Amino acid sequence: MVGSLITTQNEVLVPRTWGTYWDKFGETLVRLLEIREGAHVLDIGTGGGSTLFPASRRVGPTGKVTGVELCEHCVGRTNGEIARCGISNAEVHPIDARTMDFPDASFDYVIAGFIGCDDYFDFTTNTFVAEDVLTKQIVRVLKPGGRFGLSTWLVQEDLDWMKRFFNDHGLECRTNYHAEHEDGWRAIMRAAGLEDLWFLEEAYRYTYPTLELWWKEMLDYDWFEGQKNSDVIDESMVQDAHRRIKKHATENGCIRFGRKAIFLTARRA
Ligand SMILES: C[S@@+](CC[C@H](N)C(=O)[O-])C[C@H]1O[C@@H](n2cnc3c(N)ncnc32)[C@H](O)[C@@H]1O
Repeated sequence: MVGSLITTQNEVLVPRTWGTYWDKFGETLVRLLEIREGAHVLDIGTGGGSTLFPASRRVGPTGKVTGVELCEHCVGRTNGEIARCGISNAEVHPIDARTMDFPDASFDYVIAGFIGCDDYFDFTTNTFVAEDVLTKQIVRVLKPGGRFGLSTWLVQEDLDWMKRFFNDHGLECRTNYHAEHEDGWRAIMRAAGLEDLWFLEEAYRYTYPTLELWWKEMLDYDWFEGQKNSDVIDESMVQDAHRRIKKHATENGCIRFGRKAIFLTARRA
């Protein structure tokens, strides 16, 4: 009898996230937390999965990553990627982290990548403007000794550019992010009783392959209170934006901007 050798090659599928700076900053946050194999991780505001997927690789087959996300579309998309890539240790649920009902002390790590906090803390005066329900919940679900990791924005050059552009056209518009800082986060963490604070800042320059892609992403933001972008931005403004943005264009027509993030890790006593 003649035997035949059959070899199979397992294809490793890479999940599709939002890419660019999301992945870069997501990897940094997960690396800073030094998540150990077998751990149970809560990923708040999973979005496209830029922190969920690196965390799932770190915890391995004996660990688990639970994502919670407000946006139903993101939940469906990221669970779709989890299924497509055959990832068995991660799942995302349509849950608001402020009202999550996971048991007390059920996670070894909690991650919150760029989820925003402007509804309870004012970084210009360093004071609480409402009860910080979210951090209370984070502390409640963390095990004693468990670690929390957060990322947030210091600078988003492209959003700053857009705001200046609209202001030059005599239009009031949203900032679309609130620059935060270490002092404010120290106050929030101290009030919640989290310890061993550690901060890192990281800048990243990134490139949109075409001007059209950059403009499309900028119009994903709602710039005007109570009005659609299309009600305010006319064709002559589009042409002007395209003309002015040339300063950020590379020789081959890509659009380049920078973003700067701040990372924080802390520990529950
Ligand atoms: C800018 S995205 C960041 C996604 C991802 N964490 C990352 O670092 O790439 C923030 C996400 O947090 C979600 N989010 C904000 N507040 C939340 C809350 N209280 N509970 C669950 N998700 C929340 C938003 O719906 C949004 O998809």
